[in-house]
Order: sequence, then C-alpha cells, then structure tokens
Amino acid sequence: QTATWDIEAAEKGGYPHFMLKEIFEQPEALRKTVAPRIKDGLPDLQVEAFTDELIRSVGKIHIVACGTASYAGMIGKCALEKLVRVPAEVCIASEFRYNDPILAPDDLVIVISQSGETADTLAALRLAKEKGIHTMAIVNVVGSSIAREADSIIYTWAGPEIAVASTKAYTVQMSVMYLIALKMALVRGTLTEEEVRRYCEIIQAMPEKQQDILAQSDTCQYFASRFQNAEHLFYIGRGLDYALSMEGSLKLKEISYIHSEAYAAGELKHGTISLITDHVPVVAVATQEHIYEKTISNIKEVTTRGAKVLLVVNDRFEVKDDIADYILRLPTTEDVLMPLLAVIPLQLFAYYTAVLRGCDVDKPRNLAKSVTVE
Ligand code: G6P
Repeated sequence: QTATWDIEAAEKGGYPHFMLKEIFEQPEALRKTVAPRIKDGLPDLQVEAFTDELIRSVGKIHIVACGTASYAGMIGKCALEKLVRVPAEVCIASEFRYNDPILAPDDLVIVISQSGETADTLAALRLAKEKGIHTMAIVNVVGSSIAREADSIIYTWAGPEIAVASTKAYTVQMSVMYLIALKMALVRGTLTEEEVRRYCEIIQAMPEKQQDILAQSDTCQYFASRFQNAEHLFYIGRGLDYALSMEGSLKLKEISYIHSEAYAAGELKHGTISLITDHVPVVAVATQEHIYEKTISNIKEVTTRGAKVLLVVNDRFEVKDDIADYILRLPTTEDVLMPLLAVIPLQLFAYYTAVLRGCDVDKPRNLAKSVTVE
C-alpha cells in the first residue's frame, strides 16, 4: 500500500492530484503538439497524409467522438465553418454508428479520441471506412487501435493522461482542429497566407498566455469556494462559448457530482429560465466580440431572477464590475482561438469545486478513463 502511494506521489510530481498536474501541463502539451506541425510559419500536415488534393476535394466534414473529445470536436466544427466555410457536423460516436449516417464519397470523417480505444469511436471509424470515406484520427495514444486503422493520423502530444477527467488532451485536440482548419483555409484560399501565418504565430504564443491564466489558479479556487454547495449549476454562452460551456459543464458534473447543464444563452428563455431562481449559480462565458453583448443581456436576464453569476470574459471587452457577482478576465487573443485560454479557468473551477466537496477527483465514481466496451 505504502509503496503504491509513494510511486503515485512521485508520479504526481508534487501536485495533490493528477488532474491538477495535467491542467498545469497544458502549455507544454500545446507546444509539443503544435511545434512539429508549423513549418516556415505555416501549418504542415503532409506527414499525416492530409494532402492538398484531399483538402480540395472535401465536401462535408463529420467529426465523430465521445465525451470530452466530442466537445473538442464542437470547437473544431466552429473553427472549420468560420475559417474554411466548409460544412462540418459533430456526431456522438454511439449515435453515429447506429443512425445510418448520410455520407457522400467526398466527405471526410474525423474521429477524435484520447485513448484511441473507445469502442463506439472505433466502430464509427470502421463504419466510415466500410463506406469508402476517407478517415482521419486525432489520437493521443501512439499505436492505439484507432490510430492504426485510420487513413490519416494526427497525434496529439499531450503525454500520458492519468486523471479520468480529460484536460490537457482536450486542449491539444482543439489545437489540432485549429491546425486542420488553418491548413484547409490556406489550400482552399478562404484565408490569405498572411492571415494563416498570423494565426500560426498566435497559436505558438498561446502557451505563455495559458501560463498567465494558470498563475491565477487561486482566484479560481476562491470562485469554487463560493459555488461549492450548489446542487445545480448552469453554464451559458453563445457560439464557441456555448461549445466550450459544454466541456466546462461536463468537467464539473463528472468530478464534483453537481448537476450541471450547458445552454446556448439565447435559448434560455425558451424553457430553462424557469429553473433560474434566487441563488441559482450560473457560469457565463463571453469571449466572442460579435455576440458578447447578447450574452451580457442574457446575464441580466438571470441576475434579475436572483442568479449568482460567475462571468468568464475576454479582457478586451469593457464590462462593468456589477454585471456579475464574480468576474474572471481572460487575456485576449483572436476570438476563434479563445477556447484555448477560456477552458483553463473552467477546468480549475471544476477541479477546486470537487476538491472542496471531498470528491475523489482523479477517479470519479462510475467513470472509466477508457471505455472499450459498448
Ligand atoms: C470516457 C472518459 C472521458 C472521455 C471519453 C472519450 O468516457 O471518461 O473523459 O472523454 O471516454 O474517450 P477518448 O479516449 O475516446 O477520448
């Protein structure tokens, strides 16, 4: 027993949990994943068999994954549609495989998996291959089943992820989706070379900005202490912020056991707002310039009804201090890339909430790191 504990403690490298260690490893994981894919300032995915010919021919993109990986896919969908103007949809693997998906010969199926062994994702990959569709996999574990079977493989270099709740794998999955989008945008001419170069530079500088947020972990701990006794919690956001909210909500519920849901902020008034009463906690994410004022209006809708709001906001926006009970200001970057920064406080918030509630953070009940059965 003692020996096991000692080994584990050593592996945690001074952190109380693997999850916290992995949250703090994100800048490094991002650097390692991105650096080999940027050559002369431009995205280079040739080695992964993502050829220009293939890129030009793609009609529609189906992103297929489970859990956190599917939420990285949601960010990818937004990035692809915004930067490449290519239609993209995200399908949960267990749904995709049994829903007789409509696939055209020039479609591309991208599966995302940290472990590379998730049964439903593997089955979805095999189904797409059977139908003669080009498949690409974004996988963290080298040599895993999904990595071996996909036509094109892009590894994320997050290193081993031990905590059941995925953190650094999610961030690097997003970064690979951005690189795919930028490469496609370059080849298909939806962005100029200069624009793509700029995005690449910004992504390469992102680890430092992530570091700045990690340095504010005490603030996230304080916010967690204000919300730790919640029974229900809502996350709201629009567009990319909504996609990110889904991951924030999943993190919180899987490790702290607080019931939480993510809502598209504009959809609240169509039902969910009936659940917003005095002291109901809401985490609002507002990082996208073209819609942040809309999200601010939604925050007013919930605060009027007594909600206790934590706002995670892009520092560039001038929001008044009294708009929310707690405000976390994020360093700014290109809007489409904001999830690479905004995810960190959401992860830390979930982590500290779970710790304060005395939960087994690294091994939450009923969950497995890799689900190899259906
Ligand atoms: C399990 C894990 C999740 C993970 C999901 C997909 O449910 O608990 O953290 O997101 O599987 O795993 P994958 O290895 O395919 O990314």
